[in-house]
Amino acid sequence: MCGIVAYVGNKPCQSLLLEGLKRLEYRGYDSAGIAVIQDGKLNICKSVGRVANLEDKLESIGNFSGKIGLCHTRWATHGGVTDANAHPHVDDRNGIAIIHNGIIENYAALKTYLEEKGHVFRSQTDTEVLAMLIGELYCPAEGIDLEKAVQAALREVTGAYAIAVICEHEPDTLVVARKGSPLIVGIGADEYIVASDAAAIVAHTTRAITLDDYNVVKITTAGFRTSTIHDVPVTPRIEQLELELQEIELGGFSHFMQKEIHEQPKALRNCLRGRTDVRDGRVILGGLGDHAKELTKLRHVVLTAQGTALHAAMIGEYMIEDLAKIPAIAEYASEFRYRNPIIEDGTVVIAVSQSGETADTLAALIEAKERGALSLGVINSVGSSISRLTDAGVYLRVGPEIGVASTKAFTGQVAVLTLITLFLARRRYMSADTCAEYLKALETVPDKIDQILTQNDRIRRVTEKYVDRENWLFLGRGYNYPTALEGALKLKEISYIHAEGMPAAEMKHGPIALINEGMPAVFLANRGRQYEKVMSNIQEVRARGGHVIAVATEGDEEIKRYAHDVLYVPDIPEPLSPMLTVVPLQLMAYHAAVLRGHDVDKPRNLAKSVTVE
Ligand code: F6R
Repeated sequence: MCGIVAYVGNKPCQSLLLEGLKRLEYRGYDSAGIAVIQDGKLNICKSVGRVANLEDKLESIGNFSGKIGLCHTRWATHGGVTDANAHPHVDDRNGIAIIHNGIIENYAALKTYLEEKGHVFRSQTDTEVLAMLIGELYCPAEGIDLEKAVQAALREVTGAYAIAVICEHEPDTLVVARKGSPLIVGIGADEYIVASDAAAIVAHTTRAITLDDYNVVKITTAGFRTSTIHDVPVTPRIEQLELELQEIELGGFSHFMQKEIHEQPKALRNCLRGRTDVRDGRVILGGLGDHAKELTKLRHVVLTAQGTALHAAMIGEYMIEDLAKIPAIAEYASEFRYRNPIIEDGTVVIAVSQSGETADTLAALIEAKERGALSLGVINSVGSSISRLTDAGVYLRVGPEIGVASTKAFTGQVAVLTLITLFLARRRYMSADTCAEYLKALETVPDKIDQILTQNDRIRRVTEKYVDRENWLFLGRGYNYPTALEGALKLKEISYIHAEGMPAAEMKHGPIALINEGMPAVFLANRGRQYEKVMSNIQEVRARGGHVIAVATEGDEEIKRYAHDVLYVPDIPEPLSPMLTVVPLQLMAYHAAVLRGHDVDKPRNLAKSVTVE
């Protein structure tokens, strides 16, 4: 949801900025822009579309050679996708350029104030308002330099921001700040690289300052100063970035989504490592240790998330009730937050999020905490806003997810929720032996996903048969109802095929009217408590001309009599089955998008990490 990169140092920065921007392109790709100060003058170039378009435009107007600059890739919120709305935005008096990720909520009031002061706006964005406000406050004659003007402007702002600002009159100074949107300052040798995430930094340095909300950093080649928006000095927190370059490169795959689907066995081995003790039938989750006592007494679990993470949370809900015997509910964070939820003593809220930056999930978490809930995070991105806000948590450890469609984060989320469930269950009724059985089964998941991945070519051929159909159904029951939702979401978001997921039984209550000759219906039909019932639903679809693609348990020959196509997954205890059954669905969605010629990693209208509510 908008990527930002900025640089100040001792070398021409255009290529470094653009290379960083390409690594962040998954965060937004409507338009891109760059500003560089060169010979004391601000040079700006913007282009609708991908970073490659911006590169072409720069080539045609003459590349910039300055040593301080900033650039941005946009996912539109305020104002359409136009060059004028692309960042950087400039003020109309002082040669100030700004890039911004987030939303300025009170921008309309600020705009009116600035218009009354005579400022003339050229875009419809909230960011231009911030540029003008900084420009309005900038007054070196009165000691208000760029750093002070940024601080003063941010004191007037409500909303979320990660910003980087430069000014023609202070051609060696870069000022950056954050609140609610991520920002990291990489410290290199005689240079600083600022970015929305580590992916744009690690090629140059792994030392970085991580910022807290309301922090402002003034950076020159001579050094940096960290303060709050009220100009209170802050001791910088310098950390080592864990990310390896190879983790953010394609490494022989055609797309990040494909790479991430195939990485799942390795990612899950990493996720589980050191957390399972099969011999003693116990789960080791250091992150929950400090709260073990409160967790023993907990009475109610609310899991909250959006999108794919919500589907994982729903599986968590089923597991926590089924195995740990604690009432649980999974809710859209966006709904939970605004429906005046009741948080009683003994309620724990679990926020599930790959990025740890999803605005809806963050807002729900804040609401739950204000109402007194103990909060846990199931997060992938280390140090993200949600992970910092929760009382405790368990990281996914599946590595960076770059493909916009979430895949390995989903299986990682389910794996971590399984561990949390068993952790809670052992503190209640579950015996060490039963826990050991589940842990043993959990440890087989990576190898079993490896087996499913060997069927990639067959899954592509099956997808090919149906890829021209515009309406698909995904149906499952119990633990695999959320998997059905996830299969439908994957297909629609990258192939633009209309797909609906639902509980298989619900089909009879209306959606069955949609079924016509040849309509694909994907059934999660692995062996489990409701297997017979799923078989009945399959026959209902067939009787109306639908084409059934069944995801079934290896060795189930019977199902071939009912389904047109069968994709097999290895047997596993039912609560763990979504981690296997989802894999053929991920591959089907991937192949459908490729066969239809879509840009798998950058689907239209989408961006990774949705930082607006
Ligand atoms: C779908 C997808 C989204 C995210 C959702 C939450 O493939 O990626 O539905 O799952 O936006 O994102 P996180 O997990 O970052 O909170």
